[in-house]
Amino acid sequence: MNDLIKKLVEAFGPSGFEDGMRDLIRPEIEKHADSINVDNLGNLIALKKGDGSGLKVMIAAHMDEIGVMVSHVTAEGFCRFTNIGGVLPHNLNGSRVQFADGTVGIISSDRLTDRSKIHGLDKHFIDVGATSKEDCPVSVGDPAGFKREFLAQGKRLSAKSMDDRIGCVVAIEALKRLKNSPHDVYFAFTVQEEVGVRGALTAANHIDPAVGIALDVTLTGDMPESNPMAVSLGDGAAIKVKDSGMIAHVGLVNIMKQRAEEANIPYQLEVLVAGTTDARSMQVANGGAAAGCISIPCRYVHSQSETVDADDVEACVQLLVEILSKPIDL
Ligand code: CO
Ligand code: ZN
Repeated sequence: MNDLIKKLVEAFGPSGFEDGMRDLIRPEIEKHADSINVDNLGNLIALKKGDGSGLKVMIAAHMDEIGVMVSHVTAEGFCRFTNIGGVLPHNLNGSRVQFADGTVGIISSDRLTDRSKIHGLDKHFIDVGATSKEDCPVSVGDPAGFKREFLAQGKRLSAKSMDDRIGCVVAIEALKRLKNSPHDVYFAFTVQEEVGVRGALTAANHIDPAVGIALDVTLTGDMPESNPMAVSLGDGAAIKVKDSGMIAHVGLVNIMKQRAEEANIPYQLEVLVAGTTDARSMQVANGGAAAGCISIPCRYVHSQSETVDADDVEACVQLLVEILSKPIDL
């Protein structure tokens, strides 16, 4: 799986600019799906038909990543920028971003007079090697994603956009392994999650699923002095019970737990205090859906070294395949 992970996590694709991601994912899923569609917002949706006895199930994994967008170029050729999604100022200094045309920029900030404080985004800038506004290769409105190589150290896998390319990998793997499902399963690779779960809302409005399952990363509580949270890296797939945008469907949570136990798949229960996923959109779209989320535990979310455990990723794939292979009695 690491080759596919590397390919997806190193690719460019901030929210609203997911075209390249679509082009990377499409060949991975084409021969395993009955049909493939791209909707007006850019969601890539693969349908795998069931035997007619099951439900309409939507799986959502978002293709987009957080990033930045140039808002102003100074006379000296430095770019001021705004955020695309949840960019954290304390993760920025010295980091590199890459624009769609391959231009690489270094992020730095204005002088800090008080080192116990951190500047907001407005006091950061991107240096693309220009000396004036005229010779600056990028301009206002140009988006950039972070640039960082994929790192595999044993089972620990780190990258700039595990959120949520690792969810895309789980979806692709499950689609490949899924045989004889009773359900019509729509695998949606969604856009614009990081700016407010937008793509999944459009896709769910159109698909109108009975059941919606998001695949996304979640935080862990296993680092020094981290916020207390009962999710740890390496302890298995995280079955979401609640986050700040959704309370998962109780029946669906029970089915997830049951399938994990029957198949001896390691799992943990997740209550996430802040943040949400595409499951929220699926839950409230149209007349609503029974929604839940299989989360991949991840350290350092929204940094450039988001870190997951390969065994957890495998557990998530297995759990999703188990759920989709059997009837879902809510
Ligand atoms: Co995110
Ligand atoms: Zn995410």
